[in-house]
Formats: sequence, structure tokens, C-alpha cells
Amino acid sequence: MIFKLSEEHEMIRKMVRDFAKNEVEPTAAGRDEEQQFDRSIFDAMGELGLTGIPWPEEYGGIGSDYLAYCIAVEELSRVDASVGVMLSAHTSLAGWPVYKFGTEEQKQKYLRPMAQGEKLGAYGLTEPGSGSDASGMKTTARLEGDHYVLNGSKIFITNGGEAGIYIVFASTDSSLGAKGITAFIVESDFPGFSIGKKEDKMGIRSSPTTEIIFEDCKVPVENVLGNVGEGFKIAMMTLDGGRNGIAAQAVGIAQGALDAATNYAKERVQFGKPISTQQGIGFKLADMATNVEAARLLTYQAAYLESAGLPYGKESAMSKLFAGDTAMKVTTEAVQVFGGYGYTKEYPVERYMRDAKITQIYEGTQEIQRLVISRMLTK
Ligand code: CAA
Repeated sequence: MIFKLSEEHEMIRKMVRDFAKNEVEPTAAGRDEEQQFDRSIFDAMGELGLTGIPWPEEYGGIGSDYLAYCIAVEELSRVDASVGVMLSAHTSLAGWPVYKFGTEEQKQKYLRPMAQGEKLGAYGLTEPGSGSDASGMKTTARLEGDHYVLNGSKIFITNGGEAGIYIVFASTDSSLGAKGITAFIVESDFPGFSIGKKEDKMGIRSSPTTEIIFEDCKVPVENVLGNVGEGFKIAMMTLDGGRNGIAAQAVGIAQGALDAATNYAKERVQFGKPISTQQGIGFKLADMATNVEAARLLTYQAAYLESAGLPYGKESAMSKLFAGDTAMKVTTEAVQVFGGYGYTKEYPVERYMRDAKITQIYEGTQEIQRLVISRMLTK
């Protein structure tokens, strides 16, 4: 349990908060409308060291921890959840598996440029026919001399089309099911790799979500990540941490909506006094704030456990479950506090509400989080 953040964590929060306010918030609504990814935001984050927060300096990172990373995702998501998930997928889903399972050469070749903000990372697990049932994937990888040949496609890829490095899971032996899956590091300019359909989404609209396609895609054997046949475990362990990044995103969205609703309620006068002083709204704000604080504590706890080298899979599933539901509830209530104005694009709360929904779906639906938690409780 943490009740007080360190000076380093407070410093990172302040830096990211200032950056988010000055460089991200002013264009957030426009980028959402236009579904426009802004590479210059990622580049600026690289210059500030935000693209490699938990990685040691020898791999281009700033040598901080997972709590600092979660604080950064939270602060970015407080103004723009699309930018929050860009950092979350880049760090948790692409950087983490290379850091944990990569060879020294792979870390220097792939983790370093990601940490330094030169290359954006992404993760490819989901397929049209395998979402929650992740091991049912159909993408294959066939060994041919000094390279594997990948065929198939992956969908719903965060940072798709913008990323230079993709962590991809494919079946090297379909007769073995989950134990026949292998992880690969795929560069966007490998022959046979291409970007397919870009999704037109309800929320996080300036975060690109695309299909990625492998047509006889040649991946050198030295790009196998971890051992052949261990890909499913790598995918699952990667998601253990990734889910807490999404929890941090959800906390940020909820906090942003709470801030907006509180400020509005103090200014909006009805029946001769600010609506914040009227119990119907005051109690609503109190419940929203309590839920946000509880979600934040669960999220920070999971991040603290991971940083301390302690088990965190169950806690991370719990934080994602609770924070995702909190984000949905709090943003919906924020729209309610704004009344009719909340339903318009004049205020940011409708965007927060649209953005919140995905936190209950990606990196494992809320139903999958319950499955993970219940299995861990009973095993
Ligand atoms: N850590 C280590 N090993 C794990 C593990 C974990 N967290 N979870 C499972 N495993 C191991 C198991 O121990 C088992 O190994 P053994 O056979 O050696 O014991 C093996 O993996 C298979 O595990 P299960 O039998 O539990 O597998 P399952 O088929 O029942 O599936 C599941 C489990 C939890 C449902 C899993 O499929 C799952 O998490 N599904 C959801 C997938 C998901 O979250 N997708 C999101 C993709 S990313 C995204 O959203 C896009 C984006 O870019 C943001």
C-alpha cells in the first residue's frame, strides 16, 4: 500500500501534467473529430523521456518504475485518452516483452529506439476469429532456413500503421494449441507486412486502430522473442502489466471528467444557487470522487507490486476491472451533471464518455478480468 508518492513520482506527475495541458489538450477535440494521430506528440514525449520511463538507462530509458509510468498514462489520459493509450501500448505491450524476454541484441536493436522515442511500438494478438479466446489464433509461422514465414492477419492493433515495431504472436505448431504459439518482433518494413483496414471508432479516435496483414512475411529467426512455443505465456504475462496501464488510462479519463463536472457544477446556477450546492449534484460528485480515488489506489498498488518484483497479475486484473467500470460510471455521471450541454461537443465530457467505453473492452474484457481473478483466487 502506498499513501504518499516519492519526490520523483511527484516530479514526473508535474512534468507530464504540464506537457498534457500545454501540448496535448489544446488539440485533443480536433484530433478526435478528425481521427488524426499526431506524431509530433510522440516525438515530444520521446524528448522528455516519457517513452522509456521504466527501462534502465542502458536501454535508452530513464530508469524509473511502473508507478511513474502509470502516473504518466493517467495524466495524459486526463486530457486525452488517445495519447494515454499510445504510451500504454508502446510501453507495456511492446517494450515490456522485449525487456523481459529479449536477448541483449534485441534489447539494443528494438527496446532502445522505442525507449528513446525513435520508434513507436505495437502488439498483435487479436484476430477476427480469436478475441477473448486468444490461443485460438490462425496466423501461422513456418520455419524456412534462416527465417520464419508468417501468414495471417491481426485486428484492433493500437498504434497500427504508425508503429515501426510490432510484437506478434503466431502458431509455429497448430497441433500443440497454446503451447505451439511463438512470439516474434516484426519491423514494419519487413517484406510481406502491410497495414489493412483502419477502424472508425466510437472513442479514442485519434489513436489509430488497424488490421495488420502478413502475406509470406519474412521474419529472421533472430527475431523470435523468447523460446519457440512460449509465445502464449509471453502474451499473457505482457497483458498482466498492460492491463494496469489501461487501469491508469481509465483513472485519468475518470479524473478528467470529474474535474470538468466539478468546475461546471460550481459555476452553473439553477434555482438561485450553484448546482454543486444542491444535494442531488453534490452527492453525485462525492460518489464520483470516491470511486476515482479507489480506482487510483488499486492501480498504484498493482504498479507498486510490479516495481517491487512481487506478483501483480491478479491485482492488475482487479485494477483494470474496477477502474474501467469507474471510468464508464464517472464519465456518464459527468455528462449528467452538465445536462444538455454535456451531450454536445462544446464540452469535453461526451468525449470522455466515448473514450471510457473501450477501457471495459480492450486488453481483456471485464468478463475476462473476472475469469483471470477468479482463477487466481481458486488455483
Ligand atoms: N502468466 C503466465 N502464464 C499464463 C498466464 C499468465 N498470466 N495466463 C495463462 N498462462 C499459461 C497457463 O498457465 C497455461 O500454461 P500451462 O498449460 O503450462 O499450465 C497456458 O498459459 C494456457 O493458459 P489457459 O489454459 O488459462 O488458457 P485459456 O485458453 O483458458 O485462456 C485467458 C486464458 C485468460 C482467457 C486468455 O485467453 C486471455 O487473457 N484472453 C483475453 C485476451 C486479451 O486480453 N486480448 C487483448 C489483446 S490486446 C488489445 O486489446 C489490443 C491493444 O492493442 C490494446
